[in-house]
Amino acid sequence: MRITLLMILFAIIASPMFGQELPDDYLSPEFHKERREALREKLPKNSVAVMFANPVRNRANDVDFIYHQDPNFYYLTGYKEPHSILVIFSEDQKEEGESFNEILFAQSRDPRMEMWNGRRLGVKGVKEKLGFSMVKDHKEFKDYSLSFNKFDKVLFIDFHEDVRDNPRDEADLYDLKKQFKEKASIPADFNATSNRIYATLSDPNMDFQAKKRQIYAMTRWNPGAMDDPIIREFMSVQDNEMAMKVIQKAPKTKLDAHTLPMLMGQLRETKTEEELVLLRKAADISAVGQIEVMKAMHPNMSETEVQGIHEFVFKKYGAEYEGYPSIVGGGNNGCILHYIENNKPRLGGDLVLMDLGAEYHGYTADVTRTIPANGKFTEEQKIIYNIVLEAQQAGFEECTVGNDFRAPNQVAQEIINKRLVEYGIVKEGERHNYFPHGVSHYVGLDVHDPGTYEPFKPNTVITVEPGIYIPDGSPCDKKWWGIAVRIEDDILITEKGWENLSGRAPRSVEEIEKMMAQPSPLDAFVLPKLGEN
Ligand code: GLY
Ligand code: MN
Ligand code: MN
Repeated sequence: MRITLLMILFAIIASPMFGQELPDDYLSPEFHKERREALREKLPKNSVAVMFANPVRNRANDVDFIYHQDPNFYYLTGYKEPHSILVIFSEDQKEEGESFNEILFAQSRDPRMEMWNGRRLGVKGVKEKLGFSMVKDHKEFKDYSLSFNKFDKVLFIDFHEDVRDNPRDEADLYDLKKQFKEKASIPADFNATSNRIYATLSDPNMDFQAKKRQIYAMTRWNPGAMDDPIIREFMSVQDNEMAMKVIQKAPKTKLDAHTLPMLMGQLRETKTEEELVLLRKAADISAVGQIEVMKAMHPNMSETEVQGIHEFVFKKYGAEYEGYPSIVGGGNNGCILHYIENNKPRLGGDLVLMDLGAEYHGYTADVTRTIPANGKFTEEQKIIYNIVLEAQQAGFEECTVGNDFRAPNQVAQEIINKRLVEYGIVKEGERHNYFPHGVSHYVGLDVHDPGTYEPFKPNTVITVEPGIYIPDGSPCDKKWWGIAVRIEDDILITEKGWENLSGRAPRSVEEIEKMMAQPSPLDAFVLPKLGEN
């Protein structure tokens, strides 16, 4: 009886009826294959790189957060399911006469689970749809004879130890990680930060001061690494000669949590044509979201409603998700850089900071506009807005191939500091906190995409996002209090110059006020009062 039911279920799922039409503009299997080749070319000789799918995260009780694949894993595979492993070899391997240089261990098919939680590709589907030739069921990983000992380097990305075990699944991510650690002889007290610091210490291409700077930055996020006596000693020496002696003491290991994330950053920094199509679309959709909100905005709206309009536009154009939690902050709320409560019930005369990015087929935009809820900037709002706009425009002009990554930030800081003094908001030379962030990061599969932060390369996409935030109670004239402005666009840098991918959304005071005076299709979208039949 049980078997019959399962067979029927399987027949339903496997039938064409259960298949469905999908968008036809995802990244192609050839893209992912080519990216794996590009990674393989960068791998050290006789090495193996191991990458895991993202964990499934529990929201509450028996409900999980919407699953989102790890961007590195997605970039290399196109596979969107959890509980899987990608293994890439620097050279061809042989098994039973077959030659291969990569294996994907994919989640098993399971008719019952698929009926409840969604379709799975399974081994066959991954071969057919994603173009992998060597695919195995993830349950096979445990006993698969993969001798990590024979490689000079075993590359992987830091483990997050907060993955839960599902006792009913013998090959969930928890088990796969445990099995990998056993196979690769990774000690229980393995510390990825120390491992990365040792790699930095031994890097022949970095000078003494650069190493110190990088290690200082790494230990800032992981102060526990400073408990390591070798790292502490390195940080206390003053010259290269002494440093070289300390470096000799660093343990030699084939385990390497440093190289793989670094190589992924190098690859992902430069976008291919196929990626740029998706990024362009994500930015364009996000810009249209800003435009439609400008037209629809009125003082009786809540922050939540404004968020909803942006996100509706994203979905209308087929963007599956937001690339990060949407930020809609009226007045003083805009001073919280990543304000995501978005729960002020009425915007009134507030200036509203809206930082939202559509995620289209994995690629996210990151676009901010700041507009007056009633359609007209006050004098003070206009002054602050125009300073930020001037800083942003100057930042754009620095986006040229070969220029220092920090150049847009540098000019934006100079302009904002100068103008804040001119308007008496700060005194000459006074330190202040009205512009507490940098203006640029890469965007791509992650909103804060990885990259080298070296001088600008062609086909990179970065944000330029200056801001001024003057919270209530700041040490300046009260008339400036509660004004927060950020303007953020996504800039494509090529040999021909820079291009604003989100430039369709108005930026100047005049353009914004003009757009806000336009009617909106949502003016006619009047819903009934709740509680009245
Ligand atoms: N939306 C996050 C950021 O602007 O970096
Ligand atoms: Mn940003
Ligand atoms: Mn942003």
